[in-house]
Amino acid sequence: MKGRETHTTHSPEETEALGWEFSRKLLPGDIVGLVGELGSGKTCFVRGVAKGLGVRGNVKSPSFTIINILEREERRGEINRLHHIDLYRIRSADDFYDAGLEEYIYGKGISVIEWADKFPELLEVCTIVIRFSYMGEKVREIVIQRRGGSA
Ligand SMILES: Nc1ncnc2c1ncn2[C@@H]1O[C@H](COP(=O)(O)OP(=O)(O)OP(=O)(O)O)[C@@H](O)[C@H]1O
Ligand SMILES: [Mg+2]
Repeated sequence: MKGRETHTTHSPEETEALGWEFSRKLLPGDIVGLVGELGSGKTCFVRGVAKGLGVRGNVKSPSFTIINILEREERRGEINRLHHIDLYRIRSADDFYDAGLEEYIYGKGISVIEWADKFPELLEVCTIVIRFSYMGEKVREIVIQRRGGSA
């Protein structure tokens, strides 16, 4: 994946399928920041990523848990963990670091962070940023951008 890709989806299923397709381009250790208003499709996309990676467990809004960890039953390839993080209820970047969440994002697993733009210092460490926009009841625009480097 190079530069920036813009997609338009017309149903939750289509957004999930896009997440699945996107998961094939992930590299070990990728930190994916998801940005977009309530109901713009971030969690729906993550559900597709989880299916694409073959990790077990339900993807739901981790509203009260901050982090959900999904793992593969058997180790296949380098990517065997998905950390699904939601910053919606976190008050400061310090709370994030105090909770030890930093340890999860620097490893060979994949981390996806909803509301990644809440704290600029966290958005900064994302290797990929995905922006979701509400375009209509069932229509979402999804812009995927890998940052920096030549990957
Ligand atoms: N094209 C679409 N893609 C994704 N979701 C859609 C689409 N059209 C309608 N929807 C609906 O929009 C909602 C998206 O919810 P989702 O939980 O994925 O959003 P979110 O961005 O994670 O919100 P939050 O910030 O509350 O976590 C769902 O109710 C889904 O059915
Ligand atoms: Mg969500």
